[in-house]
Amino acid sequence: MRSTTRRGHLAVDLAAITPGHLLTMTTSPTPSTRSSTNGWQVQRVEVDVPAHRYQVVIGAGALERLGALLHECCPGTRRAFVVADRAVAEGVGRQVMATLAEAGAAPIVAEVEASEASKTVAGAERLWQSMLDARLDRTAIVVALGGGVVGDLAGFVAATFMRGVDCVQVPTTLLAMVDASIGGKSAVNLPCAGGLAKNAVGVFRQPRRVICDPLVLATLPDRVLSAGLAECLKHAMISDPELATWMEAQQERIFARDAETLTALIARSAKVKAGIVARDEHEAGERTLLNLGHTFAHALEGALHESISHGEAVGLGLLAATEASRASAHWPGADPDRVERRLRALHLPTRAPTGCSLSVMLDLMGMDKKHRAGRWRLVLPVGEGACRVVDDPPREAVVAGWRRIGVT
Ligand code: GLY
Repeated sequence: MRSTTRRGHLAVDLAAITPGHLLTMTTSPTPSTRSSTNGWQVQRVEVDVPAHRYQVVIGAGALERLGALLHECCPGTRRAFVVADRAVAEGVGRQVMATLAEAGAAPIVAEVEASEASKTVAGAERLWQSMLDARLDRTAIVVALGGGVVGDLAGFVAATFMRGVDCVQVPTTLLAMVDASIGGKSAVNLPCAGGLAKNAVGVFRQPRRVICDPLVLATLPDRVLSAGLAECLKHAMISDPELATWMEAQQERIFARDAETLTALIARSAKVKAGIVARDEHEAGERTLLNLGHTFAHALEGALHESISHGEAVGLGLLAATEASRASAHWPGADPDRVERRLRALHLPTRAPTGCSLSVMLDLMGMDKKHRAGRWRLVLPVGEGACRVVDDPPREAVVAGWRRIGVT
């Protein structure tokens, strides 16, 4: 399989990328529109999956309007089962419950711990049982309120309860807004000899809508915000190179949590993912490109566990993949220095923590899901805003990638 993104696929009106202004997308297969509802500025990105079309709705104050936004995509009086990250249930969660109650959704909340250890069959069973005990039926709507773990677990429970009920994703981290909540991947982990087999049981089932309120990012710690920015940079490197330049220029506004800047960032990054998912829902080809940097990242996460976040590992993976691409001549003009500069601007690490040995990393890379028949399979950047799946890259190029991020 060879999948490559094409430059210019997502045409963007660069004149619109000025400080404090929302972006205007010009031509695109997945139009994003800026609209005003009673003076409320909102961006809508279409996820054009055949037979399961939905929107990513982004706007400051979206949570206050959650009841109405839910009604738009799931009409009728239907009960909401809110699966909420325990850490957000108190503050944002109360606001969400109030707006859903006002909209007549008679919400029920189930709190979950946002750790991979909660994403289990037992965790799913607890939620199925709560839904059954509350006498919910197939008209129920599951609302996933939290980061990636909550979205995955709630999406899985929604996809399986009574053979599937509607799910609305309400992500509360940048990473979940631009990546995890879009595309319908949902799963739980299974225990295995080495710890957890991540996402071992799951389904593809698209949500009815994704609703992002950049105001919830106001209290997100910088380190967690940066982790989401790594996924935005990944999207830029896959098919929207101007996005990377823009992010670098906007770093102060991004870290100041300027709502308009964050709305623009989320919309533009979500648009890259939406386009890919619409063309390849089940990861038969192009969707694999979303794993840019991930083979390196998964090895780092496998060795370092909780001491490195997924986003930080992805950032390092983007740098390593760029170096590997240059070293293997897949992209002789690749500029790892520029990727490194961008990672620094986004407050992301550029060197792996000490204690990662090259031999352990190479072994862990062999356990990657994309590893086939004893050969490595990597996604490598091959141009500005273009990347490709590369089977069996030369070992020395992979080693050069690791060395670039300080693994020797
Ligand atoms: N996060 C990669 C994907 O959704 O395919």
